Amino acid sequence: MNYPTILTGMRVNSVMTLGNFLGALIPMVRLANQHSQASHINIFVPDLHSIIDRVDGELQQNLIKSLKYYLAAGLKISSNVHFYRQSRVPAHSELCWILNCVATMGELNRMTQYKDKSEGKDSVSVGIFDYPVLMAADILLYDATYIPVGEDQFQHIELTRRLGQRFNQRFGETFVIPAEPKDQAKFMQVDNGIRIRDLQNPEKKMSKSNPSRSSKIMLTDTPEAAAKKIMSATTDSVGKIQYDMFNQPGISNLLQIESLISNLPLQDVISTWSGETHYGDLKQKVAASVKTFLEDFQSHLEQISDQEILDLLETGETYANEVANHKLHQVQQAFGLRD
Ligand code: TYM
Repeated sequence: MNYPTILTGMRVNSVMTLGNFLGALIPMVRLANQHSQASHINIFVPDLHSIIDRVDGELQQNLIKSLKYYLAAGLKISSNVHFYRQSRVPAHSELCWILNCVATMGELNRMTQYKDKSEGKDSVSVGIFDYPVLMAADILLYDATYIPVGEDQFQHIELTRRLGQRFNQRFGETFVIPAEPKDQAKFMQVDNGIRIRDLQNPEKKMSKSNPSRSSKIMLTDTPEAAAKKIMSATTDSVGKIQYDMFNQPGISNLLQIESLISNLPLQDVISTWSGETHYGDLKQKVAASVKTFLEDFQSHLEQISDQEILDLLETGETYANEVANHKLHQVQQAFGLRD
């Protein structure tokens, strides 16, 4: 039986933020628990993507910790859940090279993440430029349909779709094309993609690379410190609670966080708070939810051993190499690299 594949990955350059967690990890855990009876759930560490940036701490340790996060967040393990490291499945780099011969400089130049990461720099690595092609390889190798990621990654999904379609047109049906971003969002049961905002400057996304500690909540923050950050989040002077990311991004961000962390539909959270005038009440509610969540999460995390993750990686990497090598073989044949 051919099950669809749901696939995601998170880089491990430092500890994760609440943005990573709510934007991609929690949606993946919920989808996995809902669909793992009849889907493959591929959760991998894009460690080759991590090395485009500085790594804080030790890569192997970060990697194990990041996989523990899924279990601490409630992921139920079954034989359809596969954990693996990108660097342990060499077909990713091989397909990336082949797709480099299908992608154009123009389309990579248009990638927002590349523009952001290269802005104002004299010298930028080829790895940063080529990042989305490796990401396309990560997805196409497994014929993945759904890719739970934050909204900032939707442009890369669109590029993946384009490269897959171009390949199929030139060489015959080879890849399953992932769902388009609006259907990805629908599958994740969110209106649009998720973008958790910077607590101090809600025009921007919450990012681990922002040096300001009060701008972001890290999963290693103490529950009390995290609650304080919510209490001091920037809001606005409108004086009325409404969900309006354009005019009231700080308040809307708090509503979004409350919905995801409490697992309530956003519309329900909006109806509860709409029209209220005391921003402090909303902040207190969200601060309490974040605090309770971090207490539970951190206590679950302590109970997971490194060995548990290493065992999952061992079986996951056997599976991943088998599937990826099979697809790579087809691609090599299409290019005349193999008979
Ligand atoms: P990374 O590690 O930069 O981000 C991991 C995930 O976190 C999401 N994210 C956010 N979501 C909502 N609000 C935020 N403030 C926020 N900040 C980060 C990102 O959208 C992402 O989903 N390129 C991927 C890693 C990757 C990958 C893949 C993902 C490599 N190959 C193949 C899926 C499939 C990334 O952004 O990682």
